[in-house]
Amino acid sequence: MHPCLILLLLGGLPALSRASPFQQRGLSDLGKKVDVKSLMLLMMNDQDEGSGFVDFDMPEYPGCPFGCRCNMKVVQCSDLGLHYVPYEIPADTRLLDLQGNHITEIRENDFKGLNNLYALVLVNNLISKVHPRAFLPLRRVQKLYLSHNQLTTVPRNLPSSLEELRIHDNNIKKIEARTFSGLHKMNCIELGRNPIKNSGLEPGAFDGLHLNFLRISEAKLTSIPKDLPDSLRELHLDHNQIKAIGLEDLRHYGELYRLGLGYNRIRHIEYGGLYYVQNLRELHLNHNLLASVPSGLPEMKYLQAVYLHSNNISQVEVDAFCPASFSVKKTFYNSISLYDNPVRYWEVQPATFRCVSDRLAVQLGNYKK
Ligand SMILES: *[C@@H]1O[C@H](CO)[C@@H](O)[C@H](O)[C@H]1NC(C)=O
Repeated sequence: MHPCLILLLLGGLPALSRASPFQQRGLSDLGKKVDVKSLMLLMMNDQDEGSGFVDFDMPEYPGCPFGCRCNMKVVQCSDLGLHYVPYEIPADTRLLDLQGNHITEIRENDFKGLNNLYALVLVNNLISKVHPRAFLPLRRVQKLYLSHNQLTTVPRNLPSSLEELRIHDNNIKKIEARTFSGLHKMNCIELGRNPIKNSGLEPGAFDGLHLNFLRISEAKLTSIPKDLPDSLRELHLDHNQIKAIGLEDLRHYGELYRLGLGYNRIRHIEYGGLYYVQNLRELHLNHNLLASVPSGLPEMKYLQAVYLHSNNISQVEVDAFCPASFSVKKTFYNSISLYDNPVRYWEVQPATFRCVSDRLAVQLGNYKK
């Protein structure tokens, strides 16, 4: 399930909520195929008019592009070997699925007239070129999925109605200043698996965005970028080459609930480096080179899950996680992982975990995967 779906689900669509909010694996495991069914459910949930959408039920109606299936304003043209976006897509289409084709280029008029489109799925094609005006007709589009293509830049002139952009696994090295300007509704961007270095994020690259969610995992970052939107609630930077967390690195990200920094090369977290992220619920630092539990955890009132497994931690102090006074902490931990560290687990004092909801919430050496 996609993280953006999770965010939306937290806002109330429990039927789809299969993954626990505290399982990062569920979050990052996107798979290559977009699940059109859950997208449809999401679309129905997002519909303003409610039932108006469902009464359209003709399996094939005139104007359906050859080979595609058109039903209930959903046009499915996936895995057809298409080299171009087909002509004659019905103007009332709400969801257009073109994934798994051989499309190399998006031309100026490919989406002309599709001003009712809600979601456009172009995942898993060979797209390297997008005409700068191609997306302009999509005045109501909320979701644009361009993952697994060959783009070298984020397309220009994205529609201002856009809320979610997935552009995972392309060949983007650089995000230019003002790339996202005017996109006031954007909530969620998935940029992972692109060869982005810190220097590739130009100053002002994210200007004007009020994002909840950003993922730049599996990139080439060597430190936490400082110029990301300060509205972020989730930031995923796992599988990069980040070496340290400096005192000011998280300064702008005080709204963060969930921070993913697993699978980096973090050896050092400056004293006070976590001071600015007092709202954190979940912190992933597993698979790094930390020699100790980072300082500042006991002061985080809401921190519930902290993942420190597979580091180089050789000692865990009795006050590493919990504050001296019980009244400080508003929520107890429900997950602490420490396995696969050189610490002698039998020497860790039980009182270290006095602010944990349940003894089973602590994973020490015995639970090594
Ligand atoms: C792990 O920590 C020890 C000191 O406690 C150090 O000698 C060793 O080099 C560290 N290992 C790595 C891989 O950084």
